[in-house]
Amino acid sequence: MQPGGSPLDSMSWLFSFEGLDGVGKSTQVDLTRDWLEGQGYRVRVIREPGGTDLGEKIRDLLLYQSQHRDARAEFLLFAAARAELVRTVVVPFLAVEGAVVLADRYVDSSEAYQGAGLGVDLGLIHTVNRSVCQSVWPQGTLWLDGVRRTDGSAHDVIEARPRDFFDRVRLGYQTLADREPKRVVRINGDQDPEQVFAEVVRSLRAWLHC
Ligand SMILES: Nc1ncnc2c1ncn2[C@@H]1O[C@H](COP(=O)(O)OP(=O)(O)OP(=O)(O)O)[C@@H](O)[C@H]1O
Ligand SMILES: [Mg+2]
Repeated sequence: MQPGGSPLDSMSWLFSFEGLDGVGKSTQVDLTRDWLEGQGYRVRVIREPGGTDLGEKIRDLLLYQSQHRDARAEFLLFAAARAELVRTVVVPFLAVEGAVVLADRYVDSSEAYQGAGLGVDLGLIHTVNRSVCQSVWPQGTLWLDGVRRTDGSAHDVIEARPRDFFDRVRLGYQTLADREPKRVVRINGDQDPEQVFAEVVRSLRAWLHC
């Protein structure tokens, strides 16, 4: 999906939520699903990595198994899970008019985490992501920028990385928002959930023209 366009020539939408772990993405995805369904849209939530049999196996590998791996290998595993998810879930769902996919992380996580965070070549990331997603690109991305709400114990391999890794990831998101300000909107995630959601809705209304 090109920015402002939609896949398969139907009037359907893909919006993604991005940001550090614990910043409130899943909370906002849930609120957004309810709001959109109330507006009459058909909504499907996806989370990355995962959402397919293959993707869940890759999720387990990426988040709970091998700690030490090549950064490109990590990116390509995320991309493999994404390829399966896009082809088997996202494209069929978006073929129907009025469908909205809400992605709890999507393509921009690659650039922030493996690109800015781990130093994987951005050219490789763009080429692979464009190939994997084809036209299924977010029309709008909500970047929740705020503190990581963690209880001090890392729940997965990536959450356990050192502080400077997350500083680079945050800068990666900032670079994206600066580069594509119409698509990638920064929202202060340190506000109350209702305040965050009010900003989410403001962006959604602009993208959906409603
Ligand atoms: N705006 C907010 N203010 C205070 N607490 C919040 C806010 N949003 C979410 N929370 C709480 O913070 C915790 C993390 O929120 P949530 O699971 O939505 O984050 P997440 O970004 O999806 O995290 P992860 O990346 O680990 O999936 C939850 O306990 C949630 O209830
Ligand atoms: Mg979550």
